[in-house]
Amino acid sequence: MAAKKRVLTGIQPSGIPHIGNILGAIEPSLRLAQNHDGFLFIADLHALTKQPEPKQLQAQIHSVAAAWLALGLNPDQTVFYRQSDVPEVPILAWLLSCQCPLGMLNRAHTFKELTDNKGMPGEDVRHGIYSYPVLMAADILAFDADVVPVGKDQKQHLEITQELARKFNHVYGGGEAILKVPEAKIDEAVMTVPGLDGRKMSKSYDNTIHVFLEDKPLLKRIKQIKTDSTEYGAPLTAAGDTVFELYKLFATEAQTTRLRRQYETGRKNPDENVDDERNYFGWGDAKKALHGVLVERFGDARAEYHRLMDDQGHLDRLLAAGAERARNVARGVLERALRACGIR
Ligand code: ADP
Ligand code: TRP
Repeated sequence: MAAKKRVLTGIQPSGIPHIGNILGAIEPSLRLAQNHDGFLFIADLHALTKQPEPKQLQAQIHSVAAAWLALGLNPDQTVFYRQSDVPEVPILAWLLSCQCPLGMLNRAHTFKELTDNKGMPGEDVRHGIYSYPVLMAADILAFDADVVPVGKDQKQHLEITQELARKFNHVYGGGEAILKVPEAKIDEAVMTVPGLDGRKMSKSYDNTIHVFLEDKPLLKRIKQIKTDSTEYGAPLTAAGDTVFELYKLFATEAQTTRLRRQYETGRKNPDENVDDERNYFGWGDAKKALHGVLVERFGDARAEYHRLMDDQGHLDRLLAAGAERARNVARGVLERALRACGIR
């Protein structure tokens, strides 16, 4: 039997994931991990480039780790670790740095966006942002990753990674593969989950829904979803409605069909069209229905999330065990690279 391909990806510790992250990134990654040799890490060193407040960074590292585990990451199957626990990575990053032409980094979008029209960076642009792609290349190359699933915005970083691997192999291996050139798997965002205001759900729009909220605050958040001013009891339009769109993502087909009928009739019981207000169906009812399917779908994960957050020692031990497994691989790759460049 052929060995499973190694798939590796990094996640920024930027707060509790929202529904968009869960459906758009976390669940697809977990599915991929099931039939691959999976490596998944929290990119805490990369997070520093955004100058986060230390306490907040610390909390976010834990909450992101707890969220992935609660949502189904199996740490026995997938090697799950913190980037900063694998010192081989920044050492490899240095070896790559010594081969990395500045032009390659000057062209990186994330850096370029911070420069003026003469290509000069502003006073507050730090070296960490500039060398971000080199560290990311080391994250990947230190593990002989075959496949790296990332969002579209990371495509250029993957190209830089491939180029750096080829360059290193050319300089030190005479073209022989010392570092494995990985394949990018660009996720074309199969679905865009809408947020409270109907735009793409995103931290930057403050329109997110966090599923680990307790029942009441979760309902409060759902009630903030923008709806039109259809009168109570009149038919509601399902097409393009955010509540309906979100409901559909989590409900069974039968549940969705029923909700659609409730929208069409403006009645809780669509088959009973008597003009009794108790049977009226309005936005508040639709939102309660959404709340119901979210609690059903994520109730267990929420309990597990809070259990993990209450036992950070356990979480830390779990990540440390992952780091040990990760280092066993990275050590071998780094050794190969150090020998190739004459340090060993
Ligand atoms: P945010 O927009 O909240 O800052 P990120 O840019 O950190 O989210 O996204 C992390 C991952 O989650 C990416 O892979 C991205 O494609 C996915 N994602 C984010 N928002 C959505 C959404 N609304 N629908 C689908 N996927 C999303
Ligand atoms: N730059 C990635 C992001 O912002 C996170 C990341 C860091 C990463 N290192 C990586 C992703 C290595 C894949 C592989 O989303």
